[in-house]
Amino acid sequence: MAKDLLILGLESSCDETAAAVVARAADSSGRILSNVIRTQFDEHAAYGGVVPEIAARAHVEVIDGIVASAMAEAGVDFADLDAVAATAGPGLIGGVIVGLMTAKAIALVHGIPVVAVNHLEGHALTARLTDGLDFPYLLLLVSGGHSQFVAVKGFGDYERLGTTIDDALGEAFDKTAKLLGLPSPGGPHVERLAASGRADRFELPRPMLGKGSLDFSFSGLKTAVRHAAEHIAPLTETDVADLAASFQAAVTDVVAAKAAIALDHFKQTTSVLSPTLVVAGGVAANKAIAAALHQATASRGARLIVPPLNLCTDNGAMIAWAAAERIAAGRLADTTIGDRSAPARARWPLDDRVAPKIGSGRLGAKA
Ligand code: KG4
Ligand code: ZN
Repeated sequence: MAKDLLILGLESSCDETAAAVVARAADSSGRILSNVIRTQFDEHAAYGGVVPEIAARAHVEVIDGIVASAMAEAGVDFADLDAVAATAGPGLIGGVIVGLMTAKAIALVHGIPVVAVNHLEGHALTARLTDGLDFPYLLLLVSGGHSQFVAVKGFGDYERLGTTIDDALGEAFDKTAKLLGLPSPGGPHVERLAASGRADRFELPRPMLGKGSLDFSFSGLKTAVRHAAEHIAPLTETDVADLAASFQAAVTDVVAAKAAIALDHFKQTTSVLSPTLVVAGGVAANKAIAAALHQATASRGARLIVPPLNLCTDNGAMIAWAAAERIAAGRLADTTIGDRSAPARARWPLDDRVAPKIGSGRLGAKA
């Protein structure tokens, strides 16, 4: 019987320092042996967003301890590992370097390969770890740095069908929260207040709908919220709740309508009659959006998979798993240490056949 692949994965491309040990069996099933995540909420709280230099320093301070915890929790020795993997981009370059150099040091000391993983590939393949999903499927990645539809056709075969041309969806939530005077990161606060607000009080645009495009644009919507808020300032608690509800309703409409278009496109181009839509990224936590996506998928005879939230947001398990999939696909040589094609990269689009847009793999973007 073939031995399981055992991989340590590191993630440090934004404000999470994470390490995990994942096993992949010969039948392609995966098991998470440990998954340690430390979020830098406190470090950035005073600044209303992630400060790259502070993030990098915070990763340096804790990454050794996070790795030690992940190894201890998994109950494995470095000598047991088949490889060590790290996010090599896209992301905040200082943080990416911290994780990648840590992985390289571990690899050199223990004589194992290091695998440079595209962070987006980690998100894209997570549902194969959590749900044993077969290729092909459709991915909607909605995080603080990315909003894209990707057709995941096979390992290494990713077609970006649409992306944001300005702000990412999580970023739009965060900026809207900021202008409503809510704490950072704002997404969960907007959702909480939206629950008690009137979604029909403010007429907000549904950007990029109606053209059949799978691209998103959220910056105009954020400006519309600002204008509405300025118009009625000073804001009462009810005003804030109504603005939050109106904003959330607008983005929910856009995301659900585009998911339906994306599924139609996916069905036509792959001949898969009952496709699966996987949602990843922090915004997947939003219950209104998840409910609308359930409806949109059901209306298209499709299945929706929302992996557990701690695997939807940034984590080391998805990086370890992407590396395991790479090794299983016989593609390890593409990224191992010494290969100059795998440096730390601030930008690294998953699909390099499409033209980059501002919102995709953009410098300093959270992924
Ligand atoms: O994937 P993630 O944890 O980090 C990266 O962007 O890499 O996503 C964080 C984003 C933030 O913009 C946050 O405000 C948003 O996800 N978010 C939410 C919710 N929870 C987190 N947005 C809307 N509703 C939520 N419940
Ligand atoms: Zn991410």
